[in-house]
Amino acid sequence: MINQLKKLAAEKAVEEISSGMIVGLGSGTTIQYAFNKISEKIKNGELKDIMCIPSSANTEREAVRLDIPLISFDEAIQKMGRENKLRKSEVSNPNPKEFSILNSQFLIDVTIDGADEVTVGHPERSEGTNVINLIKGGGGALLREKVLAQASKKNIIVVDESKLSKHLGMKWHVPVEVIQFAVSAEKKYLESLGAKVQQRKNADGSHYITDENNFILDANFGEIINPGELSVLLNQRAGIVEHGLFIGTTSKLICAMSNGKIRIQNAEIRSK
Ligand code: A5P
Repeated sequence: MINQLKKLAAEKAVEEISSGMIVGLGSGTTIQYAFNKISEKIKNGELKDIMCIPSSANTEREAVRLDIPLISFDEAIQKMGRENKLRKSEVSNPNPKEFSILNSQFLIDVTIDGADEVTVGHPERSEGTNVINLIKGGGGALLREKVLAQASKKNIIVVDESKLSKHLGMKWHVPVEVIQFAVSAEKKYLESLGAKVQQRKNADGSHYITDENNFILDANFGEIINPGELSVLLNQRAGIVEHGLFIGTTSKLICAMSNGKIRIQNAEIRSK
């Protein structure tokens, strides 16, 4: 049942991809269903000329296996440059501003990704636009996933209902990626903030190492009432490369509910 829900949400997200786009590919078991659908649509001609940027070595392998075309950030910049040049030559009075890729920090049209825990809403406001906050990094890819999120015009998160929470931290710990040199110092720091901390290990007991060659500390803070504040505290440490709190980076949530219906929530992007 849970896999059917993951598939439902992931395939719905693929509807947001159109031909010609640069697409960010997240990581995890939910988003795998999106990869399958993208590959199918490329093969049957429904999606043409899309290029994808993977958020992890696992995703890269899967994309290669499914014949999904990949691109680096560098190649994305070159592609945008070529397209701007082409459009410029088609317009009689080009506005240099409009065509400058330097105008935009966003190299990716849309990124679709999963999440470990999700909250919707804003505690200080009873009405208005929602903000979606996430915990990510259960699969260890949080650093590259955040790079993709920050480089994307639109971020779509796909989950099943089991990931929804009232407050972050009720269902999941916060993965914190640290440089190997700093692991003990940052563990102490996280403990001083009240977390119970475990260094992530592989099944054979060896230290888990990320795609960027760092360690992960899984920090259990319990219920996190102000995740924005915690994010700032984690951002200020030199030994912490990145953490799994994604505060206001999501523009749309696609959630498959246990009754088989899809809930779609648009949100305000608060931080990049
Ligand atoms: C990977 O590091 C994570 O951020 C995943 O996006 C997240 O763990 C969701 O994975 P599942 O879809 O497998 O639950």
